[in-house]
Amino acid sequence: MILHNKYKVSGGKRVFGEIATPISKNAILPIMAASIICQGKTLLKSCPDLTDIDNMILLLEKVGAKVVRDGEDIEIDASEIVCGDMSEEISSRFRSSIFMLGALISRCRYAKVSQPGGCAIGLRSIDIHLEALKRMGVVVKEEDGYVICDGTNMHGADIYLRYGSVGATENIIMASVLLKGKTRIINCACEPEIVDLQNFLNKCGAKISGAGTSFITITGVERLYGTQYTAVADRIVAGTYLCFGALNKGKLCITNINPKLLSEPINVLKQMGCDVLTTNNAVKINAPTRLNSINMLRTNPYPEFPTDLQSLFMSMLAISKGDSIIEENVFENRFHNAHEINKLGGDIIVQDKLAIIHGVKKLKPGHLIGSDLRGTMGLILLASAINGVSTIDGAQYVERGYGNFEQNIAKIGIDIVRL
Ligand code: EPU
Repeated sequence: MILHNKYKVSGGKRVFGEIATPISKNAILPIMAASIICQGKTLLKSCPDLTDIDNMILLLEKVGAKVVRDGEDIEIDASEIVCGDMSEEISSRFRSSIFMLGALISRCRYAKVSQPGGCAIGLRSIDIHLEALKRMGVVVKEEDGYVICDGTNMHGADIYLRYGSVGATENIIMASVLLKGKTRIINCACEPEIVDLQNFLNKCGAKISGAGTSFITITGVERLYGTQYTAVADRIVAGTYLCFGALNKGKLCITNINPKLLSEPINVLKQMGCDVLTTNNAVKINAPTRLNSINMLRTNPYPEFPTDLQSLFMSMLAISKGDSIIEENVFENRFHNAHEINKLGGDIIVQDKLAIIHGVKKLKPGHLIGSDLRGTMGLILLASAINGVSTIDGAQYVERGYGNFEQNIAKIGIDIVRL
């Protein structure tokens, strides 16, 4: 089998046009897992073609759910769930396999899952997930790379998170929806994808309130029913396409996105010299010939600047006017691209969680190696702004989070070919 995992990008073209934002990968994956808590059928609309979604379907089938995919619709029939072990091989392919822990413990009061895989952007421990489950009376054992959870005596609890982990917040919500009494999560994550999980589960009959703030209350109900649902739009994909506009002197309109979900990235793009206009569900960008640097860009949990757009902004700052500093506060290993950018003539120094970027006027084209989803996208973005032909390894990462990627960026004028 020949693997076409490279892109060839002939950069230096101006971009223009319109791209519609698809639904969010990080919203739909926990929702897919949560569908097994429901008795009956769930219909999820407008799901993009992503390998993480394919892998989640495999995991759902592994526990007995019947999944039918019809174009962009995914129907999950969770009438009969087998409360056995999860496949280690499939779980190791992606981080979101960890959502099966919360979903299975909720439905079966038992879960045996392997440590999740995913992008190599940090240690990505699951200690906060497990501590929370223990607070709910779950007996947790770790054996041979597996986490075995016995929830026979589970109960509602007050859970304080030492850090507002997105995945842990979602797992606790799923684990607690069917428990007697109240569960309260204090200092939880506030990301829009958590609000979406709340909306989905409430539509299925759950009683959850507070998502979007750092205090969520779940009042247990007896059962959940299947429903039809369309997840929230992908703010990171919308932000990615805005960056293609910003760095390529673009005039772009990104539709189907609530600009409030991108307030911080939009503020930064304005500081970098872009004109950004917003309506209720679209963002228009009109970019200058060369972007300005910014003093300090700090990634932090929502509503602050998202870590998932950090690599893209590093690419833009690498060739902007002046010096910038990025502080990465969410993942400890998300600066791989600095080395790749320097290979092309960039000037970036990494010190612990800081990247000190001296913007250069020009970079030369070359061969770049992507090592995670957003990082590879950052390199493709960079290549799109360099005159000449560059190649980028890492299409297998891009396929995890960007549906129809080549078609979308070709449509706005980027010259890209999969090799
Ligand atoms: N952490 C722990 N212990 C835990 C959980 C997290 O130490 O038990 C640490 C992590 O190692 C990390 C930080 O806390 O340093 C943040 O992790 P969090 O749990 O909040 O992130 P996540 O649930 O693993 C989700 C997204 C990521 C996104 C982050 C932050 C999904 C499937 N993934 O990850 O998305 O970067 O939140 O917003 O929702 C991506 O889409 O490319 C991606 C990496």
